[in-house]
Amino acid sequence: MADTWLSDTRSSYDTDAPGYAEKVRGLLDEMPHLRASLAVFAESVRAVGSGPVADVGCGPGYVTDHLHRAGVDAFGIDLSPEMVALARRTYPGLRFEVGSMTALDLADGAVAGLLAFWSIIHVPDHALPGVFAEFRRVVRPGGPVLIGFHVGDETRHTSEGYTGRPINVDSHRRRPDTVSGLLRDAGFTIDAELLLRPDEDVPGAVVFARRDT
Ligand SMILES: C[S@@+](CC[C@H](N)C(=O)[O-])C[C@H]1O[C@@H](n2cnc3c(N)ncnc32)[C@H](O)[C@@H]1O
Repeated sequence: MADTWLSDTRSSYDTDAPGYAEKVRGLLDEMPHLRASLAVFAESVRAVGSGPVADVGCGPGYVTDHLHRAGVDAFGIDLSPEMVALARRTYPGLRFEVGSMTALDLADGAVAGLLAFWSIIHVPDHALPGVFAEFRRVVRPGGPVLIGFHVGDETRHTSEGYTGRPINVDSHRRRPDTVSGLLRDAGFTIDAELLLRPDEDVPGAVVFARRDT
């Protein structure tokens, strides 16, 4: 069977970009631990001498903007052209490009750091090692990587977007040790794993990693 996850994910976020943007508006204001994670990440970028930082699967761009206001030279990449268009309209001073984390249009070692917040959730297991290899390729040695994702063991299919329109996207929940293990295999050292809202139905996690030198 053809592997349609990329085209399904792209068209789903093209359909649901405004609904998703509305859903996550102000999210960081309610999540101090996530803001603290971004502050640690920004400090780690400064520690390696700064430089451009990719927000991969940036969606509407609010995390890119948060990093930029924290002094990080952040730019966004997203699979969905509609999401990128929305991010550009919302943050006209920032750079957003269409692209896929499966084959980033970046030179080896081009970025000082890389963040992927709740975007690897759409990558099926068979494609995740390739995505992490791609992250390692584009991050300079020692550069920090911050990965956010839903915690759990199952895959959830969503057939209706936030505005009620039909979409077709899978979201894969994973355990932090699974994600950390794959990052280690790809050539990263793990600095920390943070479990967010562990008592909720679907907790979140962020893994802090560094590209091996
Ligand atoms: C759940 S949203 C997260 C958006 C944003 N990072 C946030 O934290 O709100 C997932 C985003 O990842 C993007 N995405 C999914 N697969 C991708 C891929 N292969 N390459 C780049 N972006 C991807 C989607 O288009 C969508 O904007």
